[in-house]
Amino acid sequence: MNDDQLGGAHGRILIVDDNRLNRLKLSRYLEQEQCTVAAVENGRDALRVLHQEPFDIVLLDIMMPEMDGFEVLARMKRDVHLRDIPVIVISALDEIDSVVRCIEMGAEDYLPKPFNPVLLRARLNACLQKKKLRDLERSYLQQEMMLRQSEKLATLGKLSAGMAHELNNPAAAAQRGAEQLKTAVAHIQHAHQQLHQHQLTAGQLARMAQLDQLAQSRAIHPPELDALTRSDREMAIEEWLDGRAVPNPWEIAPTLVNLGLDAGEMDEMCGMFTAVTLPPLLAWLHGSYTIYSLLAEIHEGAGRITAIVKALKSYVYLDQAPVQAVDVHEGLDNTLVMLRGKLKQGVTVHRHYQPDLPRIEAYGSELNQVWTNIIDNAIGAMKGQGEITLRTYQEGDWVMVEICDNGPGIPPDVQDKIFDPFFTTKAPGEGTGLGLNISHNIIVQKHKGKITVDSHPGQTCFQIKLPLRLGKG
Ligand SMILES: Nc1ncnc2c1ncn2[C@@H]1O[C@H](COP(=O)(O)OP(=O)(O)OP(=O)(O)O)[C@@H](O)[C@H]1O
Ligand SMILES: [Mg+2]
Repeated sequence: MNDDQLGGAHGRILIVDDNRLNRLKLSRYLEQEQCTVAAVENGRDALRVLHQEPFDIVLLDIMMPEMDGFEVLARMKRDVHLRDIPVIVISALDEIDSVVRCIEMGAEDYLPKPFNPVLLRARLNACLQKKKLRDLERSYLQQEMMLRQSEKLATLGKLSAGMAHELNNPAAAAQRGAEQLKTAVAHIQHAHQQLHQHQLTAGQLARMAQLDQLAQSRAIHPPELDALTRSDREMAIEEWLDGRAVPNPWEIAPTLVNLGLDAGEMDEMCGMFTAVTLPPLLAWLHGSYTIYSLLAEIHEGAGRITAIVKALKSYVYLDQAPVQAVDVHEGLDNTLVMLRGKLKQGVTVHRHYQPDLPRIEAYGSELNQVWTNIIDNAIGAMKGQGEITLRTYQEGDWVMVEICDNGPGIPPDVQDKIFDPFFTTKAPGEGTGLGLNISHNIIVQKHKGKITVDSHPGQTCFQIKLPLRLGKG
């Protein structure tokens, strides 16, 4: 910028003065200096114009009718849209107390009357420079905020699809189970009613209790049978049921096999029931077993959801201070749980963890973002099929983490760009190109660690070096 020109000839200046001659003099001078000038004669007009157009500086007289300079200044400072526009107070030399008051209220500088062109230029220039710097700083902060926002979304995006799937499966199973329970309960009630119509002996009631126990335990631990044995047993039991005119034998036989019974044991367990009581007894047993199995399924589904939520909470270090004594293995394992949906496609994970690896002082949640980004890249590079090896070990005051894959490798001409923000070789919409940049910032800036890559076709290894204590290294 040429210092002889005000604001590089781009300054937009508002003059607020009730004295016409002052307005004219100042306007003429500033226009000569290539500034864009507007002039108003009172505070009210000033605020109106300020809301209509952008200005870089306001030259403000203090003593004015209608609304004085103090009021204009106070209102500008209260207004988020106006508070950052620098104000230079125009003052007579005997108004020094008022000037001090204006500076205290947030005015940038003051300009004594009568105007001295050299002083005016110096003050305006200083003011414009400061404003430009402030504007620059603000736009930088805004960009930074947007970048942080996209960073968060970038890591979140990697997890959310897989997580939704991981949570959806057990949730859907639990819901299905609850639905089927309704039918099973109706069946068992019907069977109960039928049984109650007959006077069951004490022995028969005791046997029912025994069968109920069996159904309960077998629903959780069914017998392990190979397919052939299972089908042989089912056939034999179907014949047994057929011989006793039990309706729907093909429906009940699989349940009886699941209870661990064979045709011989059927005689032993059910021989005491008559042709009339046997069918409702078996319908009741079938219903009981179905209910216990469904309950076990629902229990398992809910348990899986709880486990995932627990891992997720631990993954984001919910309710914990940002810096803690981090167990690196726990972080890696939680990340694997989070990425299970993607890993399931066909990735084998080998973990070579050094036993008793010391905890490190670190930002746990951020480190998990690093593991997520690197493992996600590895899965992507291998198209979901291959091997990932995680290795940890201590080296003096450092903890080393290596994450390797046996994918196609990173081409040599790309290797020095992968940590740049927005660098990606993926199709639009598939990658933001922020994963490794975020990881680099987290390791190098936040933890004063190191992250390097060694890659050739068939092997890519990311090595992360973290100090045991933050601030060292
Ligand atoms: N294990 C790897 N094998 C091969 N190439 C890789 C590997 N890791 C990273 N890359 C390359 O580095 C590029 C940058 O990775 P980065 O994680 O920063 O962004 P991205 O994966 O493309 O997008 P996202 O922001 O969604 O992670 C990738 O596009 C890919 O070309
Ligand atoms: Mg990535």
